[in-house]
Amino acid sequence: MKELMQGLREASIKAILECESVDELEALRVKYLGKKGELTGILRQMGKLSAEERPIMGQLANKLREDIENALEERKSSLSEKLMEAKLASETIDVTLPGLAHKAGHKHPMYNVLDQIKDIFIGMGFEIVDGPEVELSDYNFTKLNIDAGHPSREWTDTFYFTEDSKICLRTQTSPMQVHAMEKGVLPIRMIAPGRVYRKDEVDATHSPMFHQIEGMVIDKGVTMADLKATLNLVVEKIYGEGTVTRFRPHHFPFTEPSCEMDIQCHKCGGRGCPTCKGEGWIEVLGAGMVHPKVLAGCGIDPDEYSGWAFGMGLERLAMGEYKINDLRLIFENDIRFLEQF
Ligand code: DAH
Repeated sequence: MKELMQGLREASIKAILECESVDELEALRVKYLGKKGELTGILRQMGKLSAEERPIMGQLANKLREDIENALEERKSSLSEKLMEAKLASETIDVTLPGLAHKAGHKHPMYNVLDQIKDIFIGMGFEIVDGPEVELSDYNFTKLNIDAGHPSREWTDTFYFTEDSKICLRTQTSPMQVHAMEKGVLPIRMIAPGRVYRKDEVDATHSPMFHQIEGMVIDKGVTMADLKATLNLVVEKIYGEGTVTRFRPHHFPFTEPSCEMDIQCHKCGGRGCPTCKGEGWIEVLGAGMVHPKVLAGCGIDPDEYSGWAFGMGLERLAMGEYKINDLRLIFENDIRFLEQF
């Protein structure tokens, strides 16, 4: 029996030292120390030994098991070390190679236009305000004098969150007029740029999300002349001195009177060209004198105070300024497009 154990010791240690993979090593462990392994085989014969011999052989067997286990462990760690070395060698990093530079981005062209507009209004003492995109229909419609049957309230036009149509994604920045007035601090000079949402299909001029800039002034003795003078000044700053404007009568529920402002086409000087679609004029914004009903609804006495407001689309403005012909380019964020600005 002693010889058997000696044989097993020599064979197993040799095999373990020569073993070249972790899987093979595991197979060897099973072969020598497993339940049906060679050591177990030898131990089964203990019964044949005399009472004196048995403890001695038992001790030898335990020692053998321990030595094989140690050999397995040692081989395993040297194998995994080798594995790591091989991995490191195959994945060398040449630290002397030039690095991959991260490109610094820049402001989106539309936000350049927005910044320009903010600067113009800040220069005139206006405040920039921000408000919720998820809005109560009360603010988006009702308090703006938009009646219950108005087509813009339809589920086909507006994104609602609740069955009762009480909460929606704002369809315009005009609810910011109400928020500003309800704060109760007068006079007010503010602009409110932000995202608005409508159920529009995407094409070259439409998107379910776009940006508007709302503007409003409320004070004593404010008239339509202030509206025209201020907006003319803004337009000259954006489109250049001497830009000709016209104010066309229009209808909005929350202003009375209401108008739309056009600028004379800067491309053709009003003769008509592809840029203005032959019209000679380009529509820029909607505006008007804040409706007395809207003022009163926000707790402002229309006999004491008056005001004007406007709303314009930011994408349209940016598209005009940068000669962008497709609205989708503004939102796709294709680097090849954006890098041009
Ligand atoms: N909210 C209007 C729209 O989305 C634009 C507008 C028109 C805003 C007249 C105004 C205004 O403040 O006075 O079509």
